[in-house]
Amino acid sequence: MKNIVILISGGGSNMAAIVKTAQRDDWAGRLGAKVAAVISNKADAKGLVFAREHGIVTEVLDHKAFASREAFDAALAAVIDRFDQPGAPALVVLAGFMRILTPGFVNRYAGRLVNIHPSLLPAFAGLHTHQRAIDAGCKFAGVTVHQVTPELDHGPILAQAVVPVLPSDTADTLAARLLTQEHLIYPRAIADLLRK
Ligand code: GAR
Repeated sequence: MKNIVILISGGGSNMAAIVKTAQRDDWAGRLGAKVAAVISNKADAKGLVFAREHGIVTEVLDHKAFASREAFDAALAAVIDRFDQPGAPALVVLAGFMRILTPGFVNRYAGRLVNIHPSLLPAFAGLHTHQRAIDAGCKFAGVTVHQVTPELDHGPILAQAVVPVLPSDTADTLAARLLTQEHLIYPRAIADLLRK
């Protein structure tokens, strides 16, 4: 069975949605993969608690302990690669992992590195996506699951979901509405990718 390695920096609700899906009887077979590890660049990431409670190996790699982005990414890759299986390299899933990754790291995992971003890419790459969508007067906002390429928040789109932007929305209410959609489309997009 293929391994999935999930990278987080915070709450980890997308990671939790993927773990719950992978552990559901009716999905485990379809996914053909298990979440082998959750790695965080922050020791206090809340998602680590959920992962541990669900029997998943967790690792913390504090980026502040490394002299350069390249050094951190090399150490991160060494941890991830421990979860490769013979003939079946792990799928690497970014789930609220708030680090810009070096081209060397991204290219190493080409085709098996995915991300979820809270906007309808290619619109609103980068940070503060919800407020930017509101400020732009968007009537709809969305989330995107995509393959990761060296250019930030680009790469082939695997799945998207759309929600209305309400006149009363703040960045927080829009983010909450979108997060619900993220939890639905990310596990499905991963299942689709693993089936290919
Ligand atoms: C999610 O909304 C995800 O789309 C976003 O961070 C949040 C993480 O929530 N990711 C990015 O902004 C990446 N650029 P979670 O930790 O509860 O899954």
